[in-house]
Amino acid sequence: MAKTILVTGASSGIGEATVRLFSRKKWNVLATMRSPEKAGDLATLPGVSILRLDVTDLDSIRSAVDEGLAQHGAIDAVVNNAGYGMVGPFEATTPEKVQKQFETNVFGLMNVTREVLPSMREKRSGTIINMSSVGGRITFPLYSVYHATKFAVEGFSESLQYELRQFNIKVKLIEPGPIKTPFYDRSQDLVSKEGLKAYDTFVARALPHMQKEGHNAPGPTGVAYTVWEAAMDNTYRMRYPINAEAMLSLRKLLPDRAVFKLVRSVLLR
Ligand SMILES: NC(=O)c1ccc[n+]([C@@H]2O[C@H](COP(=O)([O-])OP(=O)(O)OC[C@H]3O[C@@H](n4cnc5c(N)ncnc54)[C@H](OP(=O)(O)O)[C@@H]3O)[C@@H](O)[C@H]2O)c1
Repeated sequence: MAKTILVTGASSGIGEATVRLFSRKKWNVLATMRSPEKAGDLATLPGVSILRLDVTDLDSIRSAVDEGLAQHGAIDAVVNNAGYGMVGPFEATTPEKVQKQFETNVFGLMNVTREVLPSMREKRSGTIINMSSVGGRITFPLYSVYHATKFAVEGFSESLQYELRQFNIKVKLIEPGPIKTPFYDRSQDLVSKEGLKAYDTFVARALPHMQKEGHNAPGPTGVAYTVWEAAMDNTYRMRYPINAEAMLSLRKLLPDRAVFKLVRSVLLR
């Protein structure tokens, strides 16, 4: 029998690529998005259902999960992918913007996870695949709040796996480096504060390098294959870096001081 996967943030980028791949692999795919009118040709792909799910709206999470369970009897895997990046000096942020960043990248992911757990626990199987980032383990300038959300996703996932293992539910972290998607354009929340000029030179130095990394990066198909590997390998392996292995090795090998120096030399040159 075909397995079923629920993907959040399926309207573009990594989420969309994941939907396309799992449809080709003959899974049932619950392609969820906050604006279903953005589904385009995803709606015509074999096995794909488009469902409305805004990760900041608990009712929409509950009804998408219920609909998925009603359609297929089980949700075998979830990809908590929806997210965006807030960029800019921390001093220019507002409490509301920080709240929204956490509501989407962290609380939304937690709320989706909580809703799928009862059926996975009863079935004694399931895979929770959380879209973290290399930025969940290494930091770069101007992304302080985004990094805080991805570090939170890493800590949440690491602790969660202890309690879910008894039910044969696996927790996975996908850790992409830069991937060319709308993340660096449309989805970016670039913060600035009227009258605050003190960071302008720093932003002008760092931001173009960060944008360039994103625009020159590989597309999202490789990440979709990594999600596929995480869903299929039937192990308790937790972390799946992609386009990030060199950065993560350096982070492991070098002391903080050397890592910060390296990042400054690349992104603040
Ligand atoms: N691209 C990278 O370099 C990179 C690297 C590491 C990790 N990631 C992570 O990968 C994930 C996907 O990003 P992407 O690169 O594929 O960017 P993307 O193309 O901008 O995709 C982001 C997706 O999240 C959705 N989304 C945002 N807020 C939402 C909400 N409240 N409810 C439901 N969906 C929401 C967007 O929907 P709308 O179309 O409605 O806006 C869009 O479908 C994110 O978690 C990101 O942090 C990306």
